[in-house]
Amino acid sequence: MRRLLFAANWKMHLGPADARAYLEAFLPATPARPGRDLWFFPPAVSLETVARGITGRDDLGAGIQDVHWEPKGAFTGAVSVPLAAQAGARTALVGHSERRHVFGESDADTARKIQAVLAGALIPILCVGETLAQRDGGTTLDVVRRQLDVGLAGLDVAALQTVVIAYEPVWAIGTGRNATPQDAAAVHREIRAWLRGRGASITRVLYGGSVNLKNVADLLAEPELDGVLVGGASLDPSGWSALVSTTVP
Ligand code: PGA
Repeated sequence: MRRLLFAANWKMHLGPADARAYLEAFLPATPARPGRDLWFFPPAVSLETVARGITGRDDLGAGIQDVHWEPKGAFTGAVSVPLAAQAGARTALVGHSERRHVFGESDADTARKIQAVLAGALIPILCVGETLAQRDGGTTLDVVRRQLDVGLAGLDVAALQTVVIAYEPVWAIGTGRNATPQDAAAVHREIRAWLRGRGASITRVLYGGSVNLKNVADLLAEPELDGVLVGGASLDPSGWSALVSTTVP
């Protein structure tokens, strides 16, 4: 049976006091469900609040939205894997499209970050996905394969099965325009073929991009999807509670 992963990417929202209020509303409304993991990616300043707030719930995890690849040093504004771990992170997003497209992060940067996250014994979620121009130009699969080739270069099978992949088409993020379950599944199949070609058969592959309460059941009805990575629809505790409790056909 699939173990579904619901990942909440809060982006630049919800400071420590907001995060505390969020969990006060969310936790009592959302008992653990067998076969479901829920991971929160708050802003770095709220990470410790979230990690402490979810203590005792094995189905819940806290993670950081981005890391620097060096463990420490003179990198003003950056957060390393050991620092995130000290604040309670079990997992880290790597190569989110906003990091790639707003902050100019390269595939080579994602590779360094994946290595650092694994070295720190955290679980990386590598985000991949094409822009609208790339989709219209017919290069979606080439783009995604290159992001995997470079981002996951040199990893052994155990590492490839520790990593989680999130397929997030850039044109679907924050736009209200989600990929259809069939669009997502087609790319997921390519990602799985890439992984299987390297011996990894159990890696979890998520979909992200305008997932909401209305479309989540249809998306997760597609067996290729092991879960979802959600931005906007994760910011309201009652909406997120309803979404993660959705009955999957
Ligand atoms: P969205 O964001 O759900 O608001 O489209 C998804 C993401 O960026 O991870």
